[in-house]
Amino acid sequence: PAERPLAGRHVIVTSGPTHEPIDPVRYIANRSSGAQGSAIAAALLRLGARVTFVSGPAEAPPPEGARIVPVETAEQMRMAVEAALPADAAIFAAAVADWRVEGASGSKIKKREGALPDLRLVENPDILARIAGMAVGRPDLVVGFAAETDDVIANATAKRARKGCDWILANDVSPGTGIMGGTENAVTLITRDGSEEWPRMTKRAVAERLAQRLAEALGAGGES
Ligand code: C5P
Repeated sequence: PAERPLAGRHVIVTSGPTHEPIDPVRYIANRSSGAQGSAIAAALLRLGARVTFVSGPAEAPPPEGARIVPVETAEQMRMAVEAALPADAAIFAAAVADWRVEGASGSKIKKREGALPDLRLVENPDILARIAGMAVGRPDLVVGFAAETDDVIANATAKRARKGCDWILANDVSPGTGIMGGTENAVTLITRDGSEEWPRMTKRAVAERLAQRLAEALGAGGES
């Protein structure tokens, strides 16, 4: 039926920050609240989708009715996303840490006078790029976010091409916008065909508009 256009569709949503351990009590993290990811999952559920919600340690409550897979690190998030396939669409709203500490310590690093710990960082897997680049079993629609502070459209357009995803929602997270951690978002949808600036609206409204667009793009035929 028209009100549940995503019935029979499976959508994976990643959300929240990741925590990358330094030792058992310390970690590297970021300021993602998970609010936009939770709102997207909730909007997809309202349109009838089956949602797998893979989330790092987020402040925002997880959406009710999704299959929730809690993770901590980027590597765990990658494994959870791959285990959740196949999917009709995947939306990568998580703020995945770009780096993790190589060889994180199994015991608490002791503070020693005059000696700083030598933390070496290594790159985390780019989950979005991996899924977007799948030769077999790729979701029909792969959507990423690009949190930028400068040259938002240009950077996000380049990012869409580089990562091989279908859409990117670019958002300006400059400190003055209040977007990171706030209830509103200002995004530009970037597709293969160009960019479309959405007015500033609540994260819930962004989620609803995205879910509608996704339903249109996937078209009929999900119901089985
Ligand atoms: O490269 P950047 O981190 O700006 O890309 C952001 C997009 O890529 C987001 O959709 C984010 O969820 C996704 N991403 C990911 N795995 C990473 C880094 C980013 O899925 N390791």
